[in-house]
Amino acid sequence: MKILVTGGAGYIGSHTANRLLKNGFEVVVFDNLTTGFREAVPKGAKFIQGDVRSEEHLTQVLRDEKISAVIHFAAKLNVKESTFKPLDYYENNTAGVLAMAKAMQTVGVKHIVFSSTAALFGDKVQDRGIVEDDPKSPLNPYGNSKLMSEYILSDAASTGALTYCALRYFNVAGASDDGENGQRTADAFHLIHLGVQAAIGKRKQLQLFGNDYPTPDGTCIRDYIHVEDLADIHLLALKHLLAGGESDYFNCGYGFGYSVKEVIKMIKTVSGADFPVIESERRPGDAASLVADSAKLKSKLGWKPQRADLNLICKSAYQWEKRISNVK
Ligand SMILES: NC(=O)c1ccc[n+]([C@@H]2O[C@H](COP(=O)([O-])OP(=O)(O)OC[C@H]3O[C@@H](n4cnc5c(N)ncnc54)[C@H](O)[C@@H]3O)[C@@H](O)[C@H]2O)c1
Repeated sequence: MKILVTGGAGYIGSHTANRLLKNGFEVVVFDNLTTGFREAVPKGAKFIQGDVRSEEHLTQVLRDEKISAVIHFAAKLNVKESTFKPLDYYENNTAGVLAMAKAMQTVGVKHIVFSSTAALFGDKVQDRGIVEDDPKSPLNPYGNSKLMSEYILSDAASTGALTYCALRYFNVAGASDDGENGQRTADAFHLIHLGVQAAIGKRKQLQLFGNDYPTPDGTCIRDYIHVEDLADIHLLALKHLLAGGESDYFNCGYGFGYSVKEVIKMIKTVSGADFPVIESERRPGDAASLVADSAKLKSKLGWKPQRADLNLICKSAYQWEKRISNVK
């Protein structure tokens, strides 16, 4: 069976493409390489350079490659940028999903797994794990662009045109178990990525935004999920749809979180480096705490997390960053 993986030259997409290949699927990666890397596309996958905003190109690829299902990662994801370039986010992310849904309908491709985000939930729920049907209130255009994408897929599914799984990732981090793949985007803004860059001296310091949140140590709490565990979830969601399972949406995290200070401490422990941390004002739009309730993912898709360990996540990210930076 052949799966189209849009955004498969990116961080999460390339890990997932690899997981599909290892499980006997054929893979076609479709990516415009704006933030992705050709060398991240796993050997064994076919690569097509293209843009998901082109319904025409997508239609041609779905037809010519005889695609059975799609996993759609392609998106812009810089939350801050989305606040001053909102239309770029609606065009790339939301119109990209619309073009894909239309192309799928034209060709008769029935299944899509979609990369959604915890950013759908804004900051309404702080004191417990977030369940799938908690209120949606994105705090930025990035979150809005993903929520609108979910509406498109849900409405298309209601006509019987397709089935979909929307996977709302919490904070994705870490590198592959074999050390061959990890986060390549140098200016990716995720805490663990920036922290390991500071640990190897690629950054002079790490900035900590806000120390007066209503959390035990005053810093924000996030649910960090290992990229390889997330790749497993995509495989399960894909198999669920291919087996005739219903459309559904899942919160993807471990169900417990760590504060920014705890993460920094762990990075310092695994690296042995004591880099400077500059405490500054809160950033607008940061929720105090975002932790997934992953009960549905476990009960409905049978997901069993294998790497729910902050030490492992930070260590793999640190080793990967050293490797791509040629640091011994
Ligand atoms: N990294 C996280 O913590 C996180 C959290 C929640 C959701 N997500 C979602 O996961 C997905 C993948 O994120 P990532 O961290 O791997 O980011 P990434 O930037 O590494 O990957 C995105 C990929 O999509 C490609 N792309 C972007 N726009 C495209 C377009 N118009 N046409 C074709 N290709 C395009 C990029 O070149 C890149 O390869 C995104 O949809 C993102 O919104 C990520």
